[in-house]
This record gives sequence, structure tokens and C-alpha cells, in this order.
Amino acid sequence: MLFAQEIVQWYHKHKRDLPWRSTTDPYIIWLSEIILQQTRVEQGLPYFHRFVATYPTVQDFANAEEDEILRLWQGLGYYSRARNMHKAAKTVIREHNGTFPKDYNSLLKLPGVGEYTAAAIASFSANEPQAVLDGNVFRVLARYFGIDEPINTNKGKKIFSGVATDMLDEKNASIYNQAVMEFGALQCKPQSPNCDICPLNTSCYARLENKVNFLPVKIKGKASKDRHFYYFILKDKDRIAMQRRGPKDIWENMYEFPLIEYPEALDLSQLKETSVFQQFFPVDSELEIISRPKKHVLSHQNIYATFIAVKNFIQSGEKKRDWNYVFIKDLDTLAKPKLIFTFLRDHNICNN
Ligand code: ADE
Repeated sequence: MLFAQEIVQWYHKHKRDLPWRSTTDPYIIWLSEIILQQTRVEQGLPYFHRFVATYPTVQDFANAEEDEILRLWQGLGYYSRARNMHKAAKTVIREHNGTFPKDYNSLLKLPGVGEYTAAAIASFSANEPQAVLDGNVFRVLARYFGIDEPINTNKGKKIFSGVATDMLDEKNASIYNQAVMEFGALQCKPQSPNCDICPLNTSCYARLENKVNFLPVKIKGKASKDRHFYYFILKDKDRIAMQRRGPKDIWENMYEFPLIEYPEALDLSQLKETSVFQQFFPVDSELEIISRPKKHVLSHQNIYATFIAVKNFIQSGEKKRDWNYVFIKDLDTLAKPKLIFTFLRDHNICNN
């Protein structure tokens, strides 16, 4: 049997029952696909349900406040996805009279929609013959056909894109695309796939040549940058100091505790000697570490965050500071990076 037929037959037997598979509404499919970028299905599912319930139509999404979208997105990471979604929803209202496009070329022009997402939405909503190429598909193709070109170079992407298009079952693009991704996610898994039960095991290059653990090939990206964040916990009865992050950096517009970022790891006495510290706090501040540096890994950076209580701090009007005291009971309405809301939760300050 042909590759595509085998994969589709396997899919009918083994597919998961996922909510975005029972619709052809491009708006709902778009929501699911953006949520699932860099996110596992189990983690993304509750977010998908919350977004569909809160914004049943693209009009509702476009009319929402960005802060509210970010708050709903809280915990998923890569917040530019949420910001781009807002821009895309507004573009659909402005340039498509509120009707979410289904064709690949129009989809590709929406903010945050790349080749993979455009192919997924166009094929799932309108059966347009565009082959999807995500991490799952790269793996299936690399192993089955024995392609050892790295998947993250321009040359590699071209080669894989050509093979993916050749394999596409053009009349059944929607089912085939879902099937090949599901096959990669469940059967041809990254680690320890069970090749003994694979329907393609008699013709799979990697299986026959013992290369399953060596394919696909990926070249190493640039090294991650280390950043050291010192967060200050300033409480005033039932309020706590919070500040909003600025533009052009991670977590744009999200809320965190007053922060000093320093290029190196410092202990408390070294921190007190820095001029940034003295700009905000008296030199005789009584500091206590509440949580030692925790490594928080982002895509190209490692954040080492230390949480420090300033026990004898009294806010005075003399120094200009960027933070505001927020009632602890209102903290759950603010969009906060995961690092911050996990701290709040682990220290029983606020649950959300
Ligand atoms: N990951 C990304 N898109 C997906 C989809 N449509 N179904 C399952 N997993 C996915």
C-alpha cells in the first residue's frame, strides 16, 4: 500500500478524539493551531476550551482587550502568539469583512500565521491541497525516507517541503494532514517509538538501517543567554508592589514584582552595593531571600530569578519608582509570567 494510504488507515484506527477535528470553521481551527504551536495537546486543551467559550467568534476576539487575552493566555508562554492573534483577528474584521479566510495565500498574510499554520487551516477547513510540515511530519519523513539533511536549515526545509508535497493525498488533504501529524505524535514518537507494531516497519529506512534514534538531524542553534532577575516582594498590609513590563523584551505588558536585572549572579551584600539597588532602596534595607535562584528556561534565554523580601521598606514620595501597590485579592486579574504566578501560588499569596 502507498505511504499516504497506510498512514490514513492507521489514523482511522488510532486517532484521538480532539475537539477541533469536528469542525471546519477556520476561526476555531486557527485558535487550536496557534495554541498548539510549541504546546502539548494535553496542556493546550483547557486553553482551547476557555478561548472558544470566551470568544465564540472572531468578532469577539477582535473586540477583546489585549490585557484580557493575555490573562487568558497566562501560563502558555510565547506571549507574542497571543498578541499576534489579536492583530490577526482585527485584520480579519478590517480586510475580510469579518469572515475568517480559508485559503492558504490569505491566511499566510495574517500576523502569526506561517506556512505550517496556513496549510493546516486551509486543508482542515477547505480541504485545500497544502502539505503541512511540523515537527511530527519532519520526523516521519526523515525516518521513513532516510533523509539526513538537517531539518532546520534552508536547504533541509526545501527538501522536506518537496517530499511532503509529493506525499500529499491531494483529494484528501484534510484527513491526510491530520493523519501524518497524529502518526508522528503517537506512533513515530521522538523517543523509543514502538516500531514492532508500526504498519510501515517493512519499508521504513530508519527501521531497516537501525537509524531510528539518529533521524531527524537537527543542527544546534545559538547558545542561550543567561539573565539574572532579582525580584523584590514589598508588602503593605493587604497590598503588594507590582510593576508592568515595558516593550521590546520578554513578557511585554505583563505584571511582575519590582525587578532589578543584573548581568551576573550576586549575593545579597553584592546586590546592596550596586547603584541600581541604591537607586530604589535605602542601603540599610533588611533583605531576606524567600526563594533562591530558580532557573526558568525560555527559548533563547535562561532566567535565574531570586525573590527577596524587603522587610523594613517604607514607601516614600522622594524617589521615583515604577511600581504600584495592588490589592492581593485583585492579583488574579493581572496577566503574569509563569515564573511570577507560580511564585505567588507556591507562597500562598494568590492562586492564579
Ligand atoms: N498539533 C498541532 N496541530 C494539531 C492538530 N490539529 N491535532 C493534533 N495535534 C496538533
